[in-house]
This record gives sequence, structure tokens and C-alpha cells, in this order.
Amino acid sequence: MEEKECHWVTVSVVSQGACVWVPDPEAVWVSAQLLQNYRPGDQHILIQLTDGRMEYPVLPPAGLPPLGNPDILEGGNDLTALTFLHEPAVLHNLRVRFLDYSSIYTYCGIVLVALNPYEQLPIYGEEVIDAYSGQDMADMEPHIFSVAEEAYRTMIREEKNQSIIISGESGSGKTVSAKFTMRYFAVVGGAAQQTSVEEKVLASNPIMEAIGNAKTTRNDNSSRFGKYIEIGFGCKGDIIGANMRTYLLEKSRVVFQAAQERNYHIFYQLCASRDLPELRTLKLDSAENFHYTNQGQDVHIFGTDDVVELERTRNAFTILGVQPDQQMEIFRILAAILHLGNVNIQASGRDISYSSYWQANDRSLAIFAKLLGVEGTQMAQWLCHRRLTVGGEMLVKPMAGQQANEARDALAKHVYEQLFTWTVQRLNSSLRAHREQPKSFIGVLDIYGFETFDRNSFEQFCINYANEKLQQQFNRHVFQLEQEEYLREELPWNRIEFSDNQPCIALIEGQLGLLDLLDEECRVRNLHINWTRKLYDQHLNHSPHFTHVRMSNSAFIVVHFADMVQYECDGFLDKNRDTVFEEPINILRASQSELVAELFQKESAGGSLPNSSLANGSIRSGKRAHREHKLTVGFQVILFYRSLNSVPSSIPDSFICTPGGHTRNSTLVIGCCYVVLFLWMMCAVPARVPFSISSLIQSSTALARPRSSSGPDRLQYWRSLEGIGYMQQGF
Ligand SMILES: Nc1ncnc2c1ncn2[C@@H]1O[C@H](COP(=O)(O)OP(=O)(O)OP(=O)(O)O)[C@@H](O)[C@H]1O
Ligand SMILES: [Mg+2]
Repeated sequence: MEEKECHWVTVSVVSQGACVWVPDPEAVWVSAQLLQNYRPGDQHILIQLTDGRMEYPVLPPAGLPPLGNPDILEGGNDLTALTFLHEPAVLHNLRVRFLDYSSIYTYCGIVLVALNPYEQLPIYGEEVIDAYSGQDMADMEPHIFSVAEEAYRTMIREEKNQSIIISGESGSGKTVSAKFTMRYFAVVGGAAQQTSVEEKVLASNPIMEAIGNAKTTRNDNSSRFGKYIEIGFGCKGDIIGANMRTYLLEKSRVVFQAAQERNYHIFYQLCASRDLPELRTLKLDSAENFHYTNQGQDVHIFGTDDVVELERTRNAFTILGVQPDQQMEIFRILAAILHLGNVNIQASGRDISYSSYWQANDRSLAIFAKLLGVEGTQMAQWLCHRRLTVGGEMLVKPMAGQQANEARDALAKHVYEQLFTWTVQRLNSSLRAHREQPKSFIGVLDIYGFETFDRNSFEQFCINYANEKLQQQFNRHVFQLEQEEYLREELPWNRIEFSDNQPCIALIEGQLGLLDLLDEECRVRNLHINWTRKLYDQHLNHSPHFTHVRMSNSAFIVVHFADMVQYECDGFLDKNRDTVFEEPINILRASQSELVAELFQKESAGGSLPNSSLANGSIRSGKRAHREHKLTVGFQVILFYRSLNSVPSSIPDSFICTPGGHTRNSTLVIGCCYVVLFLWMMCAVPARVPFSISSLIQSSTALARPRSSSGPDRLQYWRSLEGIGYMQQGF
């Protein structure tokens, strides 16, 4: 019998009456019926669409359009049960479930696909938790609680640690999903005798969101850091402690926000609550009057009351044992950062390159110094001057206006980062198990999602690189696990060596890769234009993941797994170098405030603070260069992500799933925007994908756009996804 490969299936004859999916400019895909039999070799098929019949070409590379699934499979709760698994089949199935069954969850094998409903659904109450508790995943409708239950039961039954990895684009619902899993564990893992551990674990969320989440143009509550929390369970399966790990906070947001975006929520919470008697000493004003909070030009979030939110944050601190006086110390430091942003550093001439000075009566500077318990004039001196060592002699040099402003911003970012790190440590010490050592844990990973804006800089580069790494883990995990499953079930199966996104990762982190060249330029000349030139010389026409930007010599494009992103080179070097001058830090170290002094005590030993000479751009040799190289943000990013793979005891089995042996079960929850993307990966196992990956990926990007505040109705929402998806794909 003559056979022909046709979208994941090998067909001989397709009979008249069969259903196919054809691309449509409005609806993305529409179904049509074959009006004649199709035989391999035919160059056209005659199809019936709702608005008429047409001849449809069947020529390579397009081939026969994807075949429709039998009606009986429509709306099934596991995509892998579909006879034909391709983009239109998955979109249709999710659509039917979303619109007709009001179901946002669907399995795709071991993966739970979650569509963001952008509305409160009555499916997360305690009665639903009770219904899922103790039930087998296979017997229940797909749900985030089912995933949590599976992880919990497997942990108890097999005495193995578990991990839940949540992936998806910015705004797709990762943090919300993470919180639901934590709530589930808090209920099912609640001890018989009342303890407050579960309450503490849940209370860590509002605090971390207050200091690590912000409004972006994609998400009103966007995580600007990565979080991995391990919830520890005792012998009886009750929660006895937890430990959080965070990474790569987006520091630049502390001093700058793009239009319509906000700084970290906590700043707005404090400003909105400034009239509370206990907060008056902070001398706060409306967020509109602070440079560090008003650059986005909209300090409000629709539907959010920052006064109420501060109340929530303070309650959470109290639950975690951070007493009101220590909370006040934290708030003082946060308020000081806002006042620092308003310190008016001026150039002494018309040119910004002239040396800088501050007004002796600068009110913001005085408040900043007072709040941090430091001497104002000393601090002012080192905001405008720096110390240099030339030929063994120490010189004090005035900074130019722009340089002084940058140094002020660097100081603000550094103080915030230290406070963030300290808070995480403080919460961890409160969450630590005291009664006994945890027998096992369930880890939940929630990072910032892949994102692309009109203008993308170093922060998006790091975030997208993080997602690239996570995607790689996901690919490996899914492909390996699925194939092992087939082999275990003794299905006739030729092992497929799956391709992953390693080439893109190598472009970023490899030798002479983007970060390597960036570090080199930071060490040598410090000119972003040189770095850009090197990037082009090294990678243009050599890496399929690197491409140029027309009419620009200061930008480049990386073809990521999820989208093509254009990065502007300006600012990369400064952000990567992340220089903070030593002198103001020394003043803070000697602060009268215990907490301020503590924040800066440890780092001298840890060596995380680049010293003043780093900003000189001088060429450093051997060992020293290596030490400073390690200090760049880019290098730290690489080390961190390598640690995900290579240190089994740190973040182990949530990502690595080797069959048998010490394998631990991992369950993956993905946001709506990754539906199509993951489909591609699942489909790629049985056969080759007949459409371009980048087009799928762009459609997945478009799915992220709806805003939470607008609350469109479901059908309209779904249509908007389809419409945007189609236009972006440009079929
Ligand atoms: N299951 C859900 N039910 C109702 N609303 C949801 C759900 N999931 C997400 N949302 C809505 O979507 C918004 C964005 O979700 P979330 O903050 O979890 O996104 P994210 O994937 O963590 O994004 P980022 O990568 O920017 O942190 C939420 O604030 C909420 O309004
Ligand atoms: Mg988030």
C-alpha cells in the first residue's frame, strides 16, 4: 500500500467526509470536511468550509492539512489521548474545555496545562481540597490540587522528595499556581495538634510579593525574582518547616521603572500608609513625589488598595515572628531609599561632566542620613567624591554629575538588595524546622516568566536566559521520562535523541558567548559599542540564535525558544559590572542602626562587593581579574544556573529526572501561554513537526498579553488569543 507521511501520522487514503484543519486569518484554524477521498500523490483536496467549498493545495512542504480527531475525543482531559496531536487539535481541545466545560486545566501526559482564567473561580475552596485529598490523579478531573496531591502521596508512599516546576510566560499564572499548591500542602499537611508552621509558610508569600513583585505592563503582580521553596514534612506527613531560596532580584527597578510600571509594591504600600501615626517618622510623601516611584507615571494598580496591602504585609511579618520594632527598622531603610532617590546632586557647571555637589540644606539627604543612623555630611561627601589609589597614594576625586547620580542609584540598589537578602534569611530562620529534621520535602519552583517588551535590557536578558535554562530542563525531563515510559511498557520504540535549546544556551553562556564577551569588555575597555562589535564578529552568521538589528549598531536579537527578543546594548556593561563604591558602604557599616550595620557587616567577608577600583576600567591581571570576573552579575547568573544541574544536594530532583534509581517524581504545571509550545514538544516525540517552531512560539507569546484588570469575558478572551496568535504567526 502506498503511504505518505502526513502531520504525525502515516496515512494511506483519507476518506471523503474526514475532517481537516485549515489555517484561517480570523480564527487561526477552522475545520473543514473532505468532499472527496484523498490519495497519496494528490495535489489538491476539495473541502467544505462553513462558508463554501474550495480546492485546497496539498503540496510540499505544507502537505495535507492536520486531520481532525474523532468527535468522541473532543474535550478529553488528557491531550495525549487524542488520535492526532497537533496545534489545531490541542487549541480546539483546550477551547472546548475552556468555553464549554469551564475547565482551565488539562493534562498533557505528565504535564498539567493551566489556562489563566483572569477571573476568580470557585474551584479552590477547602471542600475542593477535601475532594482531591487522598484521591488518585487518574480518577479526578485535572486540577492543580491533583498535582499537589500526587506529589504529596508519592512523597509519603515512596519516601522520596518531590518537586513541582511551574513554567510559563510572564502573567500566565505561575505565582498563583504556586500559592495554590502551598495552600493545598498547608491543609493536607496540617498537624493534628495546632501549630503555626503552615500559617508561617503561607505568610511568607505576601512578604515576598511585597518586596519582590511589581507591576509591569504584562502583569500587575509580576515576580521580579526567582523563588524555590522546599516545604519540609515530618514522619506523619505534617509540615514541620520550610526553606526558601531566591535568586536574581531585578535591582534596576529600585531606581527606574518604564512607563506604566511600578517599583516594588512595598514602596507604594508605605507611601499610601504614610499618615499612620507609627509611620510618620519616615517622613514619607505620596509615591508621586519620589523619583524612585514616579517614573512609571501611574502609581496605582486598578483594584488594589496599598493601605490594605501594607496591613497584610505587616500581619504576615508578625506571623513570621518579625516584631513591630524590627518591622519599623525595615520600613526605615525602605523609606531612606526613597529619600536617597530625591537627593539633588548637581553638576557645578552647565555640562554634566563637571564635578558634582549637593546643597548643604538638602532635606532628602538629611532624612536619608537620619533614617539610616549615619552622619549626613560624611555621606554627602562620598556621594559626590571617590577615593582613588594612584602610585600607592590615596587621592580623593570629585565625581562628575552623571557619575555621582549613577553612584547614588547604585547605592540605593545595593541597600535594597541587602535588605531583600536579609529578609529572606530572616524568614528562613523563622520557617526552619525545630522539632525534628524534615523526613522529606516538596519543592516548588516559581521563577519570573519569559518576557519581551518594546525595549529590552540586561534584566530581560537574564530573565529570558533563566527561562531558556528551565526550558532545557523541561525538554530533557519530558523526553526522557516519556521515552522511558514507552520502553517500560514494551512498546516498539526507537529511542529518539531529542534536540534541545543547548545552542541558544551556548550562545549566551559558552566560551566567547554573550556573557563571556560582556565580562571581557567590562574588564578591558568598558564600551558597549565594542562589546556589540565583538558580538557581531563572533556570532553573526555563525549562530542561528543570533541576528542583527537593521539600522542599529547598538542592539542585537537573540532567537530564544519562546520568541525573538531585541536587546538594546546600552546599559549592559554597567549593570553587569554592578559597581558600588566602598566608601558609602563603610559609612553604613558604622551606622547606629543595628539592622543597617548588620546588612553590611557580612558582605566584606563574602567579597560580594566590587571594590572602587573596579570602576576604573583598569586592566587587571591573573588572579585578581578572575576574582573580579566572578563578581559580575552575568558570571553569577551562569554559576547559579550551573548549580541547578551540578549540585545534587541543592536543587536536585525537581529538574533532573533520571529513570529508576534515585529518580524523584516531578510534576509540571504550565501557564496558558505555553500550551502551544509544550504541544510542540510532546508532538515532536512521535514525528517531525510540520510547521516552524518560531511561529508557534510567537503565538504563545501573544497569549500572554491580556491584562488581569480588564477581565474580558471568556469567549472574547479566547477569541482575542486566537486572533493575536494568528496575526503574530503570519501563516
Ligand atoms: N488560577 C487563576 N485564577 C484566577 N486568576 C488567575 C489565576 N492564575 C492567574 N490569575 C490572574 O493572573 C494574574 C497573573 O498571574 P501570576 O502573577 O501568577 O503570573 P506569573 O506567571 O507569576 O507572572 P510573572 O512571570 O510576571 O511573575 C494574577 O494576578 C491573577 O489576576
Ligand atoms: Mg510570578
